Amino acid sequence: MFYIKDNKRNLTDEKRETFSSGLAVFFATLGSAVGLGNIWKFPTLVGMNGGGAFVLVYFICILLLGIPVMISEFYIGRSTRSNPVGAFNKLKAKPFWKIIGYLGVSGALFIMFFYSAVAGWVYSYIFKAIKGDFLNISSLSIHQAGETVSSIFESTVGASISPIIWQAIALAVVGIILFAGVKNGIEKITKTLMPLLFTLIIIICIRSLTLEGARDGLSFLFKVDFSKITPSVLLSALGLAFFKLSVGMGTMITYGSYFTENNNLINTSFKVAFSDTLVSILVGMAIFPVVFTFGLEPGAGPGLLFNTIPLVFSKIPFGNVLLIAFFLLTAFAATMAMLSLVEVPVVFMAEEWDLDRKKSVIITLLIMFIVGVLTVHPSSIFGHITLFGKNFFDLFDFISSNLILPIGGFLIAIFVGHKTKKADIIKELSNNGELDNSNKINIYITILKYITPLLLIIVFLNSIGII
Ligand code: PHE
Repeated sequence: MFYIKDNKRNLTDEKRETFSSGLAVFFATLGSAVGLGNIWKFPTLVGMNGGGAFVLVYFICILLLGIPVMISEFYIGRSTRSNPVGAFNKLKAKPFWKIIGYLGVSGALFIMFFYSAVAGWVYSYIFKAIKGDFLNISSLSIHQAGETVSSIFESTVGASISPIIWQAIALAVVGIILFAGVKNGIEKITKTLMPLLFTLIIIICIRSLTLEGARDGLSFLFKVDFSKITPSVLLSALGLAFFKLSVGMGTMITYGSYFTENNNLINTSFKVAFSDTLVSILVGMAIFPVVFTFGLEPGAGPGLLFNTIPLVFSKIPFGNVLLIAFFLLTAFAATMAMLSLVEVPVVFMAEEWDLDRKKSVIITLLIMFIVGVLTVHPSSIFGHITLFGKNFFDLFDFISSNLILPIGGFLIAIFVGHKTKKADIIKELSNNGELDNSNKINIYITILKYITPLLLIIVFLNSIGII
């Protein structure tokens, strides 16, 4: 998958590949982190959970929960050079801890069930933009423009067959990339496309911030109203933090297993978390001014991105071309994130069940498609089926982000914080003493041992009403 390099500790195993350099590590990891989570989920949840208060809780979760778990996953991955189940064998951990790996495999599946559906919407929007469906909105009144984009969204996701076809296309693209063995090539393109996506988001931001609704948008995003912090806001911010950083389910164990020996694991986690959070905030700054300018509903739910983005581009010269570029780059980011999600069950099947890699890819993608089809929008064929009062889309999202990832994160924190020798952690995080970072390591270990698990328990008990 990546450049082949001998890696010192694995001479007894088959040769396992590693990333070629520190920069490759950074971009590949960022490629997993940045995706629909920033562009679609972040603004949707900020809107639904009342704005600034949610953003503040989210930041705290990234810092005290997400980053420590990410460092721990890197530690497990690089020190074992194994998949998330095999890693616990190598660490000679009790069989119980393999549950982290199994949870991860199921987490990847649950995320992909709905993620692939949203990726399908993005793909379909590329074609809508190319067809010129949004060309006339610039000539409409503010109110009509808002209504037009909403109805385009409703008819896109509410159609009975086309969302399923788009979902299949999104999964097929992932399959083709994995089959053609061009993943390495794709990872190199990330270095160019990520900065492009970033630049485009900045352009949207600048335009948005000069709209009439900019002030209201920004105050919605940044003004903290503590009364809005409810148990369910806490749980969703926590779930989003894990989802965003791709942690709690072994993705970063898998990535860590490909890291170079001299990579500074703590620094990489900070750089990735910082860049990822910056992208989310910029997307928020791009979207909420549009919401307030066009009188849309901030809590509109999953359609928020798809309604606001065509509106802001209608106010930019060559907007339609940029709109096409935006959805293309978003599709690219979503695909990179999907590659990292699919990787978890694929590597697991290939390494633990000795299955041929191609077969593992096919089985994984088929499961994702067959179950994923259930998540199509409420107004289309399976949409009316509900379980525990939620449709499948919301249910799979809830199970993965709000249950599997935080529980996985908790177990990882306990395993590394309490069941691993401190000396082993120090050795790995300081690259065998080469780095002079003992202060940082000590702070990390303290947070991981005491703060991370405690906060996780408090949020959980709070959300089920026990405290
Ligand atoms: N972090 C990705 C995103 O924000 C989603 C993801 C979650 C990817 C978990 C891998 C593992 O879109």
